[in-house]
Amino acid sequence: MSDPKFTPRVFSGIQPSGGLTLGNYLGAIKRFVTMQDEAFETVYCMVDMHAMTVWQDPKDLAHNTRELAAGFIASGVSPEKSILINQSQVPEHAQLGWIFNCVARMGWMGRMTQFKDKAGKNTENVSLGLFAYPALMAADILVYHATHVPVGEDQKQHLELTRDIAAKFNHDYGVDFFPMTEPVIEGAATRVMSLRDGSKKMSKSDPSDASRINMTDDADAIAKKIRKAKTDPDALPSEVDGLKDRPEARNLVNIYAGLNEQSVEEVLRDVGGQQFGTFKPALAELAVAKLSPISTEMARLMADPAEIDRILARGAGQAREIATPILKKTYEIVGMVG
Ligand code: AMP
Ligand code: TRP
Repeated sequence: MSDPKFTPRVFSGIQPSGGLTLGNYLGAIKRFVTMQDEAFETVYCMVDMHAMTVWQDPKDLAHNTRELAAGFIASGVSPEKSILINQSQVPEHAQLGWIFNCVARMGWMGRMTQFKDKAGKNTENVSLGLFAYPALMAADILVYHATHVPVGEDQKQHLELTRDIAAKFNHDYGVDFFPMTEPVIEGAATRVMSLRDGSKKMSKSDPSDASRINMTDDADAIAKKIRKAKTDPDALPSEVDGLKDRPEARNLVNIYAGLNEQSVEEVLRDVGGQQFGTFKPALAELAVAKLSPISTEMARLMADPAEIDRILARGAGQAREIATPILKKTYEIVGMVG
């Protein structure tokens, strides 16, 4: 149960470090949309400051930030129902981020698997920002006293760290100020896998474009990628148990369930016994039907970038109304003169 002391408020973010993928859509954005119609205030963010923890060409960063905003809106995130922002336009994130750099411990950060994955063997040469990034992520969330954070499975560890930071801050300063944020990891497709390798997450940074479905792919590209997706030679099972040790088959069924808003059990009841030669065209048809209206709307919105900039500027103003008093109180708690 959430603490009744805090207003039910949702925060989530996506990095504008490339195009949106089907993984972002099913793992995160679909939930952003449904949560706007529940009893929450909702704040959704293009986390440009997180993106630059690895090199971004400035022109690409600006383009990708606007395109991501277009992707949110085209998918149903409404600038009327939600506060839509880019992170750098709300400086309170970075200000609270510094304080959390001084709360989080080196040992905690060193255990973050996303850092280990992204840094690989190159830990000497990655940016300091890449290491500190989860403390800024905690600030993104806690500068709004957000109570719920919809994300894909891969962000679970960062949300546990957010709770650790909130708890240590509250303990060290003897206050009950930051809430214990709840992760919201729900749906049939909280971890969409690569179409080429069922053991790897679908990601916008995978060098192979065939590994992912981009939200801007046209119908032909979507159909082709699904047709070529790696599978095994067996027919689909009628029970969930039959997907054990079949990561590629499981992934395609999860994607179908996520897109069609069904449970995996329901999907298997309908498609059990089918060969991939039958299932893949049905999946491609479903994906095109769900995604092509979104990519068409994204292209329409991108034709007027000034309108996107106006939406983000307005969102920043609304966001600061929430964040400014929370940051001010934090400064008082830690003893900063102002
Ligand atoms: P990112 O693109 O890394 O900024 O991720 C933004 C959001 O999309 C986060 O909530 C992620 O958990 C989610 N996400 C990214 N990739 C996937 C995936 N392959 N499956 C499910 N969710 C994902
Ligand atoms: N770390 C997230 C990712 O890589 C993006 C993110 C940044 C985020 N700040 C956030 C997600 C706050 C949820 C809440 O996907």
